[in-house]
Amino acid sequence: MNLLRSAFALLLFVFAGCASAQTPPPQLGMDSPFHRGVNVLGYDPYWKAGGTPRFQWRYFGEIHRAGFDFVRLNLQAFQFMDAQNRLQPQWLAKLDTVVNEATKAGLGILIDEHDFDTCSADANMCRTKLTAFWQQVAPRFAAARRSVAFEILNEPHDQLNGDVWNQLFAQELAIVRQTNPTRIVVVGPTHWNGIEDLSLLKLPADPNLLVTFHYYHPMTFTHQGAGWAGPELQKLHGVTWGTAADKAVLAADFDKVRAWADANHRPILLGEFGAFDLSGTPVQYRAAYADAVARAAEAHHFGWAWWQFDGNFILWDEKANGWNEPILKALIPEKRTAGERG
Ligand code: BGC
Repeated sequence: MNLLRSAFALLLFVFAGCASAQTPPPQLGMDSPFHRGVNVLGYDPYWKAGGTPRFQWRYFGEIHRAGFDFVRLNLQAFQFMDAQNRLQPQWLAKLDTVVNEATKAGLGILIDEHDFDTCSADANMCRTKLTAFWQQVAPRFAAARRSVAFEILNEPHDQLNGDVWNQLFAQELAIVRQTNPTRIVVVGPTHWNGIEDLSLLKLPADPNLLVTFHYYHPMTFTHQGAGWAGPELQKLHGVTWGTAADKAVLAADFDKVRAWADANHRPILLGEFGAFDLSGTPVQYRAAYADAVARAAEAHHFGWAWWQFDGNFILWDEKANGWNEPILKALIPEKRTAGERG
């Protein structure tokens, strides 16, 4: 009998352990839509005076109907500042239009300052310009709904590594908080928002921070043929992805992020992942990667955003004027047609 009781107690203990392991992680409230997203407008001629936009406003409706709930808007704003670091009024008006159009379509929008290379090459210049940016942009959206969020800076690296980034982030957050006391603010670790640097993040005690990381592992697959990623990767071709070992690495990496999130009580957004499409890698491998990473993120309770809508790594095929179907179906499985679901 005693043996039976001990066995029962052991069972209860194991069960309680499982239940606590599955306790949902901290969330930012039901009204925050940052679950399934896509990066948009980063390298679009729209921003330049007189440029012909690639992006059309109707795409926001397409994105929403396809099953995404937000977009991450990549802004390279520094080039649109004058000598006093004032943003051009025309550029600010364009930003307002994007935010309005995305909101009208029912999407959340994450305003991401994306001058990460310029910033990381010169921390002092970065501090001046980033401060000027948030001093001008944050008050503009002070009355916006909670589905508008801010990301202080994409992928800090080089000169911004280490405590320089912790200090700069705290300083920029304080500026944002003057006009937006409870807006969701996204922040990620150094070394290009790499998971290895999560443990170096020192975050202010602010309950509305959403911690982000980017995942392009393995670079030999996701960045094969990509000119900007260095000569070794540029000359690589024909690397595939999808073995059990590949998937085990993904699961282990995301487990590490989950463990950090639980220990630090922070919600997580995987703000970029994707695989370069112009390298000739068959779409089946890129789709398998998209599916596996998105599902792993969801299983770990991370929101995610695909890199990117158009240009390269594409989700939307401009020439065909429609979705890149294999990638869309990988990202949003509900999109599979009844026939495909079997
Ligand atoms: C950069 C892009 C790059 C992508 C993948 C983004 O953060 O802005 O230029 O293509 O990462 O490397």
